[in-house]
Order: sequence, then structure tokens, then C-alpha cells
Amino acid sequence: MTALNRRTFAIISHPDAGKTTLTEKLLLTGGAIHLAGEVKARGAARRARSDWMKIEQQRGISVTSSVMTFERKGITFNLLDTPGHEDFSEDTYRTLTAVDSAIMVIDAAKGIEPQTRKLFEVCRLRSVPIITFVNKVDREGRDPFELLDEVADALALDVCPMSWPVGMGGQFEGVYDFARNQLMQPSGPSREYDDKPAQFTGIDDPKLADVLSAQALARLTEEAELAQGGYASFDLEAYRHGDLTPVYFGSALKRFGIEELINAIADHAPPPRSQPAQPEAVEPTRKDVTGFIFKVQANMDPQHRDRIAFMRLVSGTFKRGMKLVPSGHGKPIAVHSPILFFAQDRELADEALPGDIIGIPNHGTLRVGDTLSEKNDVRFTGLPNFAPEILRRVQLKDPTKTKQLRKALDDLSEEGVIQVFYPEIGSQWIVGVVGQLQLEVLISRLEAEYKVEAVLEMSPFDTARWITGPADALEAFKRISMNNLAKDRDGNPVFMARSAWDIGYQQEKNPDIAFSATRER
Ligand code: G4P
Repeated sequence: MTALNRRTFAIISHPDAGKTTLTEKLLLTGGAIHLAGEVKARGAARRARSDWMKIEQQRGISVTSSVMTFERKGITFNLLDTPGHEDFSEDTYRTLTAVDSAIMVIDAAKGIEPQTRKLFEVCRLRSVPIITFVNKVDREGRDPFELLDEVADALALDVCPMSWPVGMGGQFEGVYDFARNQLMQPSGPSREYDDKPAQFTGIDDPKLADVLSAQALARLTEEAELAQGGYASFDLEAYRHGDLTPVYFGSALKRFGIEELINAIADHAPPPRSQPAQPEAVEPTRKDVTGFIFKVQANMDPQHRDRIAFMRLVSGTFKRGMKLVPSGHGKPIAVHSPILFFAQDRELADEALPGDIIGIPNHGTLRVGDTLSEKNDVRFTGLPNFAPEILRRVQLKDPTKTKQLRKALDDLSEEGVIQVFYPEIGSQWIVGVVGQLQLEVLISRLEAEYKVEAVLEMSPFDTARWITGPADALEAFKRISMNNLAKDRDGNPVFMARSAWDIGYQQEKNPDIAFSATRER
């Protein structure tokens, strides 16, 4: 096994486009789960154990990420689940730093939706190559040409149709795969795909007339010619540079297009790529082990108060028991019980290769953004903290619980659920989030996991900026701005601003100081 047969990817989509269904069908086809519905059923069982996840259930959205691994045709697929709700863009952003490619799911009736576009932009920032899946062709949808043009225009990408729907909705008679010249057709009362593709010599094969209605055949012949003539042909380099997206049509629910997607990931999606780092980017071919933490999840099992750090392995062959140095504190840790996240269960990992994700149980020593390496000679870059857009003061209902509150806020900020700011003056701690939903998660988890009841009040501040600069300038600025100063969880100085105007004003008055909306960890 080499890293060349790893494919580490995520699915990006707008809520309801069919990400959960597609995930389930990919895992089913990949052999990772055996019963349809298990992704949701397992999810429900897991949720039942943890109170705060009730929010998930009530709202029907997924706010946690997980990792699912399956093997097929000698390739190991690592699928990282990204939270679907827009409030969790920060978490999603970090997960996308850990993948080498993505599948973008679009609802055939809706086309590109706001969240699709946002997530796409994140992928583009990192040149993550994208395969497009137009889902739900078993239902009435928009004209396929219109959808292709929309993807091309909205995202400024070349599109290359790899398959074609033979009608949609009531007229749906199957999906034609251009590369393999195979037709997948619905069968039985459920109108699902039965895994029996019919082989043809091409769109002009007279045998197509035996399996398609005259109307469908005429339409396919005409559209296929236009589709193949009117768009870019597939170009591996352009796809891997993020300039072209191959487009597959299908139905996750009825299992059309699943096999093609798996083949596309196996054949075209890039193996582990190099990762940006200081002093220089790390290639997957580097011999010694390096990786970075892109997510920390506390209390996955409330009984055990465990905390799992998710590490993306960038180089080297990781072996169980290996000693790695976290950049956070520089003291080596022995990784005795790493976990690989197979869909069926957590399994102990003995060995992992670049592209793999390892869960490392720990007691708070590992943080999002940490680099782990054998020699402690490298730092991965590009996992930012974002300036929060919503700030709230935390008010305890029972003031004797200050210690518990501090612990909870530290834990949850380390996990990336919230950011916390401790003002230099006064004792009212401030939490910051990027989206409203995070506040609900916070209150709910404080109660469920830390037995702390709290309310959130309006804060006098509107936003926050990390400040850096020459020591003397920074000291002078701090002295006169004490009322607006706080420390983040790591003790970094933060300027709490009453308005965007305030930041501009301070920046003008203090040209030596940088006010940053993101802080790289
Ligand atoms: P999400 O994770 O992206 O939010 O979407 P999810 O898979 O939960 O799918 C959203 C809805 O769309 C679900 O229906 C699902 O069954 C349906 N769906 C997904 N793929 C297809 C498809 O290929 N064809 C058709 N016709 N429907 C599809 P729901 O009624 O909201 O949920 P459920 O009761 O089926 O779970």
C-alpha cells in the first residue's frame, strides 16, 4: 500500500440537496455498511446519547463532522463529513483543509444554491478539485443544459458532462455513461437501479432502440451530441488544478450515478497532495511522519469525557505507539490508541498513510491547528480563526459555578464551537461565534455536559480583532485602550470593537498595530 491509493474527500452541498443520502449510498456501494438507512440510524443512536445533539434532531441538520473510510478496488477512500449548516462555516472550512478533493452535490430542480457557492469558494481558495453530481434526476428537474451553464457561469469553471440523464421525473428512463457507453436503467416497482448496466457501442448503437422508448431515444441522441460537442472534453490536469469540473447526473435515492462517482474519485481525484507549511510545503513523499489537527471533538461519549483530535496525516507511515511532538507545547506524546473511523465502528489503527485521518484520544493537549511531527521542525499553515460576527456576555444563573463555566468555555473554544474572550477589566466573559446556531449549541452543551446554567446577554462590543505589532507600540496602545482589551483562550491580546468604524478609527490612529480579522494557528 502506498499513499497513492488514498483518496481523501468531502461532499459539499446546500442542505437538502442529498448529501446524507449520497453518503449512505457511497458507503453502501463501497461495502462499508450493509443496510440502507444506517447512516441515519447510527446517527440517531449516537445522538440519543448526547443531549446537546437534540438540536440536531429538532432542526434536522448535521452539526458534527465525522470521518468514514471504505476500501474498494485497492483504493482507500476517506470521506470527511462536513457540517451542512451555514452557521458552521468555520468548522467546515477547517475540514476542507484536510481533503484533497470534493464532490459538489446539486439538486437538479434547484441548481446552485447559496451554501453550495460558499463552500465552493472555500474549495477554490485552496484549489481543491471538484466533481459535480447533479442529484434527483428521478424527479422533475431543470433542463440539463441550463444546469451545466449555471455551474459554468456561477462558478467560473469549465464543465464536462460525463454522463447524461435520459429524461427526468415521469419521463426518466435512465442515465447514460459517455465514457463507458453504458446505460443504467430503472427497474421494478421502486424504479431503482439494479446494478446491471447495459453495454452499447455508442450513442448510435441500434440496440438502444430495444431498451428505450422512441421519444427517449430521439432525445438522448440529440442531447448527447450537443452535450459532447458543446462543452470542454475531460482534461485531468484542468480538473486537478480546479479549472474544470466533470459533471455526473444521477439519483442518490435510486442509486443512479453512485458507481460512476466512486470510479471518478478512484481514477481522477488526486492522491494526497502537498500541504502548505513553514519553512516549506510538505510533500506526501517525505519520510518522517507529519500531520495536523483540523478538528477536536470533546465528549463524544459523555460517560468518558473523552476528547478526540482528528489528525490528517500529511507524510510518513504512522505506526501505533509512535512518539510525535505537538507544536502546541513541544512535549512528545506517544500515540498508543489511535482510531481510524470506519463507518461501522471505530477501529484501532496500527498503521496509517498520508491522506488518512487518525483520531487521537487525549485530555486537552491537542488543539485545532496543531502540527504533529517526529522532529518538531515544521508548522502547517492556513487553519485560521475567524473574527466572530456575534458577541455575547455570559451570565451565570448560579454564581458559585464560575470554575465550571471557565472550564466549559475553555473546552468548547478549544473544540472550535465558540471563541472566548476574557476582558482585562471586569469579570464578564464574552463568547464569540460566527453564526447564531452556535449559541444554542453552547447553552445546550453547558447544561448537558457541564451542568452549568447560563444566559447570554447583549455585549457592548460588535466584533473583535487580534492585535499584533512592535512591543512598545502594543504596550502604549494597551494602556490607553484597557476598556476594550481582552485575551483569547491562548492569552493573545484582542481588541474588542464597538463597531467596524471603531476599528478603522483605531487603525488610522495606530498605524504600527495590525488589527486582524483572522488569526492563523
Ligand atoms: P442533505 O443531507 O443534503 O440535507 O439531504 P438528504 O440526503 O437528507 O436529502 C434531502 C431529501 O431529499 C430527503 O427527503 C431525501 O430522501 C431526498 N433525496 C435525496 N436524494 C434524492 C434523489 O436522488 N431523488 C429523490 N427523489 N429524492 C432524494 P426527505 O423527504 O426530506 O427525507 P426522508 O424522509 O426521505 O429522510
